[in-house]
Amino acid sequence: MQNVHYEVRGQTAVIRMDNPPVNGLSWALRSGILAALEQAQQDAAVKAIVLTGYAADFSGGADIREFGTPKSASAPNLPMVIRALEDSAKPVVAAIGGNCLGGGFELAMGAHYRVARADAKLGLPEVKLGLLPGAGGTQRLPRAIGLENALNMVVGGAVVPGAKFAGSKLIDEVTEGDVVDAAVAFADKAAAKPGPYPRLRDLKVEYPAHEAYLQFARNMVGAAAKGAPAPLKCVEAVAASASKPFDEGLRHERELFAQLMNSPESRAMRHIFQAERAAAKVPGIGADVKPRRIEKVGVIGAGTMGGGITMNFVNVGIPVVLLETSQEALDRGLATIRRNYENTLKKGKLTQEELDARMARIQPTLSYGDLKDVDLVIEAVFESMDVKEQVFRQLDEIIKPGAILASNTSALNLDRIAEFTRRPQDVIGLHFFSPANVMRLLEVVRGAKTADDVLVTSMQMAKRIKKIAVVSGVCDGFIGNRMLARYGAAASDLLNQGALPQQIDGALQKFGLKMGPYRMGDLAGLDIGWAGRKRRAAENPGAYKRVVADLICEQGRFGQKTGAGWYRYEPGKRDPIPDPEVEKLIQQFRAEQGITPRKVSDAEVIERCMYALVNEGARILEEGIAARASDVDVVYLNGYGFPALRGGPMHYAEQVGLPEVVRKLRQFAAEPGADPSWQPAPLLVRLAEQGQGFPA
Ligand code: 3HC
Ligand code: NAI
Repeated sequence: MQNVHYEVRGQTAVIRMDNPPVNGLSWALRSGILAALEQAQQDAAVKAIVLTGYAADFSGGADIREFGTPKSASAPNLPMVIRALEDSAKPVVAAIGGNCLGGGFELAMGAHYRVARADAKLGLPEVKLGLLPGAGGTQRLPRAIGLENALNMVVGGAVVPGAKFAGSKLIDEVTEGDVVDAAVAFADKAAAKPGPYPRLRDLKVEYPAHEAYLQFARNMVGAAAKGAPAPLKCVEAVAASASKPFDEGLRHERELFAQLMNSPESRAMRHIFQAERAAAKVPGIGADVKPRRIEKVGVIGAGTMGGGITMNFVNVGIPVVLLETSQEALDRGLATIRRNYENTLKKGKLTQEELDARMARIQPTLSYGDLKDVDLVIEAVFESMDVKEQVFRQLDEIIKPGAILASNTSALNLDRIAEFTRRPQDVIGLHFFSPANVMRLLEVVRGAKTADDVLVTSMQMAKRIKKIAVVSGVCDGFIGNRMLARYGAAASDLLNQGALPQQIDGALQKFGLKMGPYRMGDLAGLDIGWAGRKRRAAENPGAYKRVVADLICEQGRFGQKTGAGWYRYEPGKRDPIPDPEVEKLIQQFRAEQGITPRKVSDAEVIERCMYALVNEGARILEEGIAARASDVDVVYLNGYGFPALRGGPMHYAEQVGLPEVVRKLRQFAAEPGADPSWQPAPLLVRLAEQGQGFPA
């Protein structure tokens, strides 16, 4: 029997699924379960069966590693296994602990009875992979907990603790103790009764006004889905449970499941699921590299970033020493943190007690001496090499040996920063994104001398503070901002040639981005980029080419914070209003540069902006700044509002086809006066010629 342990306890056969890490229902495991069930049926001494997981989890659902791999002709599919549970002449009890998700939950619903630990996590998260439950979940769950509750679970994909189902038809017994012991005791009692045993499929979905409710649900879900096909198909599948006989409903569910499985949106979302988990693994660093302990953190600078960074740590119980240069700056920073928490409190997502506990974990200080015992210190002071030098030289004097010294710089050379200390091996970049307490991305910048254990510690620490970490090498802007610079330049070209900010933003937002580059610029503040351009112009005066953004900034228009940027804003409002003044500045710029404007289509906006990202992403890969194309996608999804339904720029390029991307890049590069960075990256050309995608 593959992936299954079989033992008999008294008169009950206990079948334990064993397919680490989460008992994904691979073809081998499915075959194993069927074989074990058969053995239990044959054994006359066995009167009842318990199905459970070998380790903590029941099952995390379909084995995601098998998605897209050829089907084994002889392997039973999940509905067959579930059918075998239902048809068992001996009562089957599912003993549910840990994760019981997706196909795993559907499997449990095929048992005659379910015993769950109070803290077991039950859910149908398929929608988060652009799918719907495809093994009867949409038909059995409404029969067990009602149409509305089931619809919420299927469409929302949320995980619900076992305790919540006490007293429902879904869970027959909730236990705080050993779930297998409880299930065996339950099974013994069940076996004392004659069959046939209860099956969820035989229940009726009770909901008198279901059509009116479903119509309401379709409207709500359709509006919230933002073009994602899965949520509405989830509603359709659940609706079938109320309107069709069970087996017909099951067939309908299966058809919808197959449609979604082949949809580009689901492919993109499954790609991202795997990409986010792959990003946590650093090639070349083995499991033997042990992380350092992080129990106390120091943060230097209580400004926009320092405050948000501090919140990440105190939110998960890690105390922070927060250092500033003046009492006033310190008070301002603390007040902002408190205000953020108070807003969360007002929304009912935080208690006063927890708010106080989090604030109490922050130790404000003006003295470096208070940083003596921190295990990690993160610098978030002004973006100036001189200021960073001062800070790192001081830190080097004070911080205990073995502590990690991190910089939140957005673009400065980390290797230079490391040289300000006598321990460059302990220096790393931890590039948080604004707002740092909200954005999930963390670029972990590996310097030339960063020690492996410092990198491993940072990756684990990221998980602890609920961030998604991606390793980047050292270069100007690291992965995300370096690509963003090319994307911004492509948008800027379009602006010069005839488009307006609102057209460019509109086209990209229709494509799925949360915000186009001009709205994003206004939100982040245009002065940061302007300072960077001025720095580069000063470093290399001959090479600097003026851009429209310079004219905008020269007017003191720095975005939302000054009430005007690429758009104008009503006082206190954040809605961007197209501004004729901006159009005039753009026209003035075109006149200065001798450009005759032309009509730009929305399709061209997408092509230029996306392929600029892809081309720079490919260079970043070639240079080894990013380890995998999927890491680049993770950066763009979690840091830049790239739509999950597109799977990230590199995945999008593969879907378009790399030969087509290369053809377009060549076309852009051949235009008179084109920026040389339109030349396709050699890696892209090679992969396109070989008919390959990006290496995994
Ligand atoms: N199959 C195979 N491997 C899986 C898996 C699955 N269903 N779910 C998670 N894993 C793997 C991850 O890839 C990761 O592997 P790694 O260590 O090699 O990187 C490992 O398990 C741990 O995963 P996480 O890092 O995500 O660990 P967490 O503890 O944070 O989360 C989890 C565990 C809650 C199970 C989370 O991984 C999860 O949500 N998994 C997806 C569950 C899901 O979507 N199931 C539905 C699948 S579709 C389906 O069942 C179709 C059916 O309706 C027919
Ligand atoms: P900020 O100006 O809001 O805050 C900087 C804070 O550092 C100020 O409160 C200042 O008083 C303090 N400070 C200055 N010198 C100091 C010193 N020697 N010792 C202690 N404190 C000192 O700046 P912001 O936006 O928080 O940026 C900080 C760093 O984070 C910069 O390196 C920036 O490039 C980077 N960053 C900024 C992002 C953003 O969107 N704002 C995003 C990602 C990184």
